[in-house]
Amino acid sequence: MGQRRDSHRAPEPPGNGINPHGLLPLAPPTNEGFPLAPVMGWAHPFFPLAPPITPRVDWPIRPSPSPIGLTRASSHPLAEAPRALIGQRSMREEEGGSMAAAGPGAAGTARVSSGRELGCVPEVAAALGAVARQGFDFLCAPLFHPRHRREFRLLPAKERPGPQTRSDLLLAGRDWNTLIVGKVSPWIRPDSPLEAVRRNSEAALQQELDFAAYLGVPAVLLSLRGPHCPNLARGLCAHLQGAPHGAAVWVRVPLLAPEDGREDVIANEELVNEGDGRQEERTWHWWHNFRTLCDYNKRVGLALEVGPDLPSAEAIDRWLGEPLRAAILPTSIFLTNKKGFPVLSRPHQRLLGRLLKLEVQVVLWGAPHHEPKPLSAYLQYLEHVGQNRPPPSAYELFARGYEDYLQCPLQPLMDNLESQTYEVFEKDPIKYSQYQQAIYKCLLDRVPEEEKETNVQVVLVLGAGRGPLVNAALRAARMAQRRIRVYAVEKNPNAVVTLQSWQYEEWGSQVLQSWQYEEWGSQVSVVPRDMREWRPPEAADLLVSELLGSFGDNELAPECLDGAQPCLKEGGVSIPCSYTSFLAPLSSSKLYNEVRGCRERDRHPEAQFETPYVVRLHNFHQLAAPQPCFTFRHPKPDPSEDNSRYRVLSFPVGVTTALHGFAGYFETTLYADVTLSIRPETHSPGMFSWFPIFFPLKQPMAVQAGQRVVLSFWRRAAPQKVWYEWAVTEPRCSALHNPAGRSYTIGL
Ligand SMILES: C[S@@+](CC[C@H](N)C(=O)[O-])C[C@H]1O[C@@H](n2cnc3c(N)ncnc32)[C@H](O)[C@@H]1O
Repeated sequence: MGQRRDSHRAPEPPGNGINPHGLLPLAPPTNEGFPLAPVMGWAHPFFPLAPPITPRVDWPIRPSPSPIGLTRASSHPLAEAPRALIGQRSMREEEGGSMAAAGPGAAGTARVSSGRELGCVPEVAAALGAVARQGFDFLCAPLFHPRHRREFRLLPAKERPGPQTRSDLLLAGRDWNTLIVGKVSPWIRPDSPLEAVRRNSEAALQQELDFAAYLGVPAVLLSLRGPHCPNLARGLCAHLQGAPHGAAVWVRVPLLAPEDGREDVIANEELVNEGDGRQEERTWHWWHNFRTLCDYNKRVGLALEVGPDLPSAEAIDRWLGEPLRAAILPTSIFLTNKKGFPVLSRPHQRLLGRLLKLEVQVVLWGAPHHEPKPLSAYLQYLEHVGQNRPPPSAYELFARGYEDYLQCPLQPLMDNLESQTYEVFEKDPIKYSQYQQAIYKCLLDRVPEEEKETNVQVVLVLGAGRGPLVNAALRAARMAQRRIRVYAVEKNPNAVVTLQSWQYEEWGSQVLQSWQYEEWGSQVSVVPRDMREWRPPEAADLLVSELLGSFGDNELAPECLDGAQPCLKEGGVSIPCSYTSFLAPLSSSKLYNEVRGCRERDRHPEAQFETPYVVRLHNFHQLAAPQPCFTFRHPKPDPSEDNSRYRVLSFPVGVTTALHGFAGYFETTLYADVTLSIRPETHSPGMFSWFPIFFPLKQPMAVQAGQRVVLSFWRRAAPQKVWYEWAVTEPRCSALHNPAGRSYTIGL
């Protein structure tokens, strides 16, 4: 028993890993006489995917055509995630527009999925063939001729004969569906103050969006040019409403407004912020206003256009909480290296690396500037940047496919966990060795050398599961050369079967008959009881338990250990001896939308916002460092103290942004200096038993740079249940979330 290192595998995406992106192989364009693109090197950015298969069907998981949803839950090591019930309730909905050919958890070594944007495409099949030969995965092409300003109101243009744009027959349907991003004409201005322009633009926008839907292109690219585009948003929303399963919308937003670029660009240095930094955030407001008008529609994603100037690191961070689908790179931002090849400055490389981590697709725009080098030289360079990113850590590999995937926190007290859930716990390479170390140190502290033959320490393993902490205790005792007597207490009758088998096959015979027994003898009794009710035949020296959730106390360790405290001797020790939860404000429209999608028919319409979620945070921006929230100590210093808590936390926020909720973490001291942590600053290296927890807000809240976010947070307890309530009180008041535990409780 113990850790199993062999099962540390990334999930296999459907498509059997045919290409590095885990996507289905791409058929080249199929129209007659069309020069075949080389199949190698083509990804298939838009091919619809099979829904993930979940091994647990209490609630059907929503199908996800997103490439991120490629992971089959059943093949993932987290299929029964340690601190979450996967496949129950939450979960990923249609990604609306991710063309990310990068596949699940593409960070690190995955191939860059890239497209070529052209301003004018007289021959679509030829252009597609050409960009395919250059090595691109898709083409961004105008839906209509960019200078064909249709006139919908005035004769005779209104009656102009002939087709308005090229025929769909020029490409096979599959090519339209998978390889073309349709660009909306640049002259369309639905927010023009001129009535005639506005009306004509409204009609043209509708015509182009309708035609895009007719072609079945997977995405439409349209540009934002200012902060106020309500009529563009209205036209788009009307279209999205009428075509619920149509194309995704990539909204092109420049990282910096054109007027904020410097005239004398010096080798892509970071932009020096003047005054209050508003210029850096100007275009973020364009985007924020627009997506707010679109009510955070999931199909509306961001295509961030990167110019020669870059804003500050904080301003870049803010974009990383947005639903980034594409990064548009003009050829003009590339520098030239000694050999004449296009390269990016270091800050641009860093930015690209961060964007690729979020699985954006890269679109190259503009004429080549490095002739005689071919256009493919840009692509090769992008590939080089993609390949040379730092390799994913063990934690990132383990979490692949679960980025931003909402899961319901486990309730091991109320529910009986399944075998596979314990199996996933036991794969953690860090947790049990830390427990072993803690028990070892504690035994050495409690039993002096001269008493090691006579002093037998009584150890209660509380919530023993399938026995890994019993084994950790036995190993620790052997290492310390101290004698222990173990009671393995477990209320899950199914796990008790495993414990009893262990006792029969290992603890009861092999261990007792081994030389260690003669010398340092250990003894294990299995107790199939609830720790709050059972009383041992002898008082305990050590209570060893692992009842911690992602938020520390959310699996009800305080209540369980209070119940077991009378078993402990005066001066006895609990491992863990304390744990503290942490909270940090965050911005993530991705998570906001994921939570919104968890609405259920038979629940309160906003119940999904009054529930915490276990989630591997990925597409998010943390707005301030985490702060400690609740601390519990064992044995309890004051037994009369109850386990309800109230805490007000105040976070300084440095950027103007939208607040969507709070990330929760925990740290625990097992014994002396032996700790476990999932707080990012102190995260136990390599430990993956716990993902963070997320407490959402019903309404995104605008926060200005320099303001404070003040959060009131409660842990409430009643005889049958425990729950959390939370509310923001600054910069504005939110509603109180989960009052009286109406949407989420943890059963005692
Ligand atoms: C998170 S699991 C840990 C299992 C195992 N110790 C490990 O580390 O892999 C918590 C275990 O505690 C058990 N448990 C929770 N509350 C309990 C209680 N009041 N009495 C006995 N067992 C309890 C659960 O059934 C579950 O097996």
